[in-house]
Amino acid sequence: MRSAKGSWDFAGVNSSYLVHGIHPYPARMHPHIVKILIDRFGKKRMIIADPFCGSGTVLVESLASGHDCVGVDLNPLACLISKAKTTVIPKEDLLLTQKQIVDQLSRARRRSILPLEYRKYPYRFWFKRKALGQLLLLRDLLTESNLWSSRSRWLLVSALSRTARAVSNQRPSEFKSYRLSEQDLRRHNPDVFGTFRGIITDTIMRLGAYYETLPEKVRSGSIEASLVQADARDLGARKIVDMVITSPPYGDSDTTVGYEQFSRIPLLILGIRNRKLGWTRGSDPLEDTWTNFPGGSTATLFSRVSRIDRTRSRVLRRYFASLWRSLLNIDSMLRNDGVACIVVGPRTVSGIRIRTPDILLEFAQALSLKCLSRTKRRLVMKTQPRRNNLAQTINEEEILVFRKGG
Ligand SMILES: C[S@@+](CC[C@H](N)C(=O)[O-])C[C@H]1O[C@@H](n2cnc3c(N)ncnc32)[C@H](O)[C@@H]1O
Repeated sequence: MRSAKGSWDFAGVNSSYLVHGIHPYPARMHPHIVKILIDRFGKKRMIIADPFCGSGTVLVESLASGHDCVGVDLNPLACLISKAKTTVIPKEDLLLTQKQIVDQLSRARRRSILPLEYRKYPYRFWFKRKALGQLLLLRDLLTESNLWSSRSRWLLVSALSRTARAVSNQRPSEFKSYRLSEQDLRRHNPDVFGTFRGIITDTIMRLGAYYETLPEKVRSGSIEASLVQADARDLGARKIVDMVITSPPYGDSDTTVGYEQFSRIPLLILGIRNRKLGWTRGSDPLEDTWTNFPGGSTATLFSRVSRIDRTRSRVLRRYFASLWRSLLNIDSMLRNDGVACIVVGPRTVSGIRIRTPDILLEFAQALSLKCLSRTKRRLVMKTQPRRNNLAQTINEEEILVFRKGG
């Protein structure tokens, strides 16, 4: 399977155009991949689902191609960003929102009193005192504005979240929680209102440009996106979607991509409890026995890893238990003849190569999912994690396409 120009790497091809760039998010899918998959394997009018929707790339492209879509994610921030991207607002209304917000901000009196929260960890650790004071004032202004009860709410949430990260003591180039160095902290004196004004202007410009590209049925609301904050391992939906396009997490969040850490600061400011997210939350009875999984290769793999590191072997079993349970749900939500496109990558644990795409294929064979194609692509990571050298262990991924009942 190849893209029109022959490569799926899309190295150097912008993935943050239009609405895709309104908020950063770790491990986003390249929008061109979604576009090509819909063109190649889709049909005229579909319901497309992404059970690990993250920041909503699949949903944005589904709407742009004129398909209803459903996004699921465990992370509340992911759902909020996706909601901001897929809430369709006419350009004129967007411009009115922008004017109203900018007017309100310029009338607001800047507060210099110490907010109560500042005395508590983690506020004190993650924010300079003045920045936190202004950020909380900004949050209050937004939540008290009449726009908060309109469709513009989600774009305000997204812009506030992006502002919170940008003015915090978080290193901008890291997705995991790393504070600025002492030297950078001394120089750090962010302008909260100015930052927000820039972000909201950018957000509205991108949403307006996206609106222009949308088919009439999406503009009028007869085709739409819905979002559910839920666990992809226990969805229970049956035969409702025509196509699934998704990229599950690559591994446990401690050693791979830290969605939880990335979301910590925005959720703190939005007042949303950051419960433990992701695959390794809780335990799964499947992880207790090595031979519980379909196909033969996982048992050998777990035993090899266990000889080196028993804890890592358990975490790995939990990862594959999650992958298996999610695949069962994907299979069950697909209509007969429906197509599932799943992007996963190999990685290295305790020096052992974990060939997740091969294992996913074994799992799929145990269901009614027939593999139509598998395609490798190189990954170019823009945000390099500091400690675990992720870029060296995860540098490629595969796009696996299955048909149900084939
Ligand atoms: C690779 S990211 C998806 C990125 C997305 N394709 C995008 O373009 O932004 C994986 C997502 O899975 C979510 N996730 C992890 N465990 C989950 C679970 N058990 N159920 C639902 N979502 C989960 C994470 O919060 C993260 O947003």
